[in-house]
Amino acid sequence: MSQESAPETPSAGCGIADVAIEPECSPVLEGPDLRRPADYWAALRAARRVTEVIQARQTRADVAFDRWLPEELRDRSLEYWTPLPVLARVADWLRETQARTVVDIGSGAGKFCVAAALLTSCRFIGLEQRASLVDMARALATLFDVADRVTFLTGDFGALPTPQADAYYLYNPFGEYDFDSDRYAELGVPFNDETLKRDLFAMSYLLALAPAGTLVITYNGFGGPLPRSYEQIAVDVRFPCALRLWRKRGWGGGSAGVRTA
Ligand SMILES: C[S@@+](CC[C@H](N)C(=O)[O-])C[C@H]1O[C@@H](n2cnc3c(N)ncnc32)[C@H](O)[C@@H]1O
Repeated sequence: MSQESAPETPSAGCGIADVAIEPECSPVLEGPDLRRPADYWAALRAARRVTEVIQARQTRADVAFDRWLPEELRDRSLEYWTPLPVLARVADWLRETQARTVVDIGSGAGKFCVAAALLTSCRFIGLEQRASLVDMARALATLFDVADRVTFLTGDFGALPTPQADAYYLYNPFGEYDFDSDRYAELGVPFNDETLKRDLFAMSYLLALAPAGTLVITYNGFGGPLPRSYEQIAVDVRFPCALRLWRKRGWGGGSAGVRTA
């Protein structure tokens, strides 16, 4: 029988003081004024409880984390942000391959970087073109107390130099994302055949120049093929999309120790 206790009933309002695991509204943008020390302190305590749920890999971890997002982003979570069970498998792979630095290309609201930082000791850099999502991601990193290992950069992948890392995470980074929200509309962010072509080229270029041994983790791919210099060393197909771990050839360490599903 499951060890998990029943989910706690969300509080009736947006108050932080009585927020348990699942605040009804995002404390980051919709809750009380976090400039008030008492509210901020209560939010930190609530985040610590959610951290425990994530680290225990409880089935309610996704709901618990997503409740910290504003409604428009929470509603898109299933389609746009990495689910926690997928993240837990990625965390296992990062540990097994001894990766230390990870870049999430198209980091959105920061769910991957923040939750993966709670599950590993890696450093994460999220690159995201929508400034409002980067603000959200930074606020989450601070509340979940991982800001010392998690950094977010605002910018367009195809137009910026990408930081070097042991591993790159790609969850459909170059799709068109619509939050059906004034707050997250960011009409200045273009998406068309030209930007897609440019981003796919920039990705192939980055991967072609990366040193031997570089890891790439794809969840539902990125819209193009990986260069042939990369071999798939693990795959997990239990999730809604295939999760794959790739490594650039020429690395002397073999793939022992990486579990596949
Ligand atoms: C499917 S979401 C994944 C979010 C995050 N990696 C996660 O798993 O939680 C893809 C994100 O990529 C961003 N994106 C799309 N094209 C981009 C580009 N050229 N440069 C930077 N970010 C981009 C989108 O705004 C969106 O937030």
